[in-house]
Amino acid sequence: KSAPPEVPYWIPYLGSAIAFSVNPLKFYADNRKKYGDVFTYTMVGRKFTVCLGIEGNNFVFNAKLADVSAEESYKPLTTPVFGKGVVYDCPNHMLMEQKKFVKWGMSNDAFRAYVPEIEEETRNYFQRWNNKTGGRGDLFKAMGELIINTASRTLMGPEIRALMDDSVAQLYHDLDDGFQPINMFFEWLPLPSYFRRDNAHIKMRNIFKQVIDDRRTNNVTDKTDMLQSLLNQTYKDGTPFTDVDACHLMIALLMAGQHTSSTTATWALLHLAEHPHLIKELLAEQKDVLGSLDTPLSFDAMKNMTLLENVIRETLRLRPPIIMILRKVIRPITYPGTDYVIPKGNYIAASPIATQVDEQFYKNAMHFDPHRWNSIKEEESGESVDYGFGKIAGGGARNPNLPFGAGRHRCIGETFAYVQLKTVISTFVRMYDMELTEKGMPGQDFTKMFVQPVLPVEINYTPRK
Ligand code: HEM
Repeated sequence: KSAPPEVPYWIPYLGSAIAFSVNPLKFYADNRKKYGDVFTYTMVGRKFTVCLGIEGNNFVFNAKLADVSAEESYKPLTTPVFGKGVVYDCPNHMLMEQKKFVKWGMSNDAFRAYVPEIEEETRNYFQRWNNKTGGRGDLFKAMGELIINTASRTLMGPEIRALMDDSVAQLYHDLDDGFQPINMFFEWLPLPSYFRRDNAHIKMRNIFKQVIDDRRTNNVTDKTDMLQSLLNQTYKDGTPFTDVDACHLMIALLMAGQHTSSTTATWALLHLAEHPHLIKELLAEQKDVLGSLDTPLSFDAMKNMTLLENVIRETLRLRPPIIMILRKVIRPITYPGTDYVIPKGNYIAASPIATQVDEQFYKNAMHFDPHRWNSIKEEESGESVDYGFGKIAGGGARNPNLPFGAGRHRCIGETFAYVQLKTVISTFVRMYDMELTEKGMPGQDFTKMFVQPVLPVEINYTPRK
């Protein structure tokens, strides 16, 4: 029995941080050749044991609570931003219940109501690009601003949406600055951005609290947004889920849904601009399903837009915003099928991005091809998945494509994200035609918490008649 092999490094403490953040995929590929699927590297004084391949994905996502902890990995980053008592600042069983509270606010009826709202927000936002001749637009900035509007209108409720244009957007920005990799490694640094983050947290919580207080004073009960669904919840053991807990969970949802969705929308549109025939196919699909491009979009109609769905699926395969899932080892664990014992104190890391771009699973893996998903069959039970190379039993986490994770910490926002992205992308292509600029496709910036395109991200657009 021995610890997994370690990647040597020359800069003490910093370790492999630079090589990793410049290009994690190359870093993994180079070291995989030398050490196999499981190896340890040092970054900023911490040891990360990455577990590659579908077995690695399964090992990390399904690791036992007694062996590993997500809280110990993410808490320094998340608690100052979200606040106390929720997500990673409470025992795991409470997080599991919080995820159930949230799920009630993500029903099909809620989604039916959200689609026209998101369509309207998208139209209103992109009116500002409208002129006769078209021009060049900053897609990344636009998607960031639009998703704040759509997510706040649908999940946070009309009161918060009304505030979005001014002060809340700034607070959001300050929270965001406090949600970077540096915050994870250097919790106690007295940086100005940390003070701004803490200030923004208090102000944001107070805004949510005020909205809740007003709803309670006026006996408002007819709202269908997420905020309303979090009020008056109780844990199974009788502990009340307080209004302050609800405020903190709302901030968490805001942070979880914002960059993940806005970068995905940006990449999806960039890939469409790269492959203009797909834009034509998307419009033809809309006409086919709705009869006309003037028919408003709806949740139920979009379920029949297979290409639209596959554009998003393919975008998340190639450009997943979250590329490293961490759990801190709290009891030494043996990696199955090996003699490796991963020591207590290490982090185990899954990087499904590695399997998502692996030629073993996806032919011509770096090529954007939404149609590839026509021939990949996922059985509804999730029991097995046919990726064209034979069925994989227990598809759940032994799965090459896991942009939303798997297991107990799996994303609960997937359906909402799809609904939001489908509506934004469909509305945008109805309004504008687009092309890449002479700079072509931007590269990936892996130094951000949520991987994003290297800025600036611009496209050339022309309004449709
Ligand atoms: C968890 C990805 C959108 C809320 C996760 C995880 C991933 C992920 C990979 C697993 C984290 C882990 O295992 O450590 C994404 C992507 C999104 C997206 C790619 C969009 C394209 C959203 C949205 C919301 C949301 C819109 C809420 C409105 C959550 C929550 C968790 C989660 C509450 C659970 C964390 C836990 O149990 O530890 N997401 N997410 N996500 N996500 Fe998402």
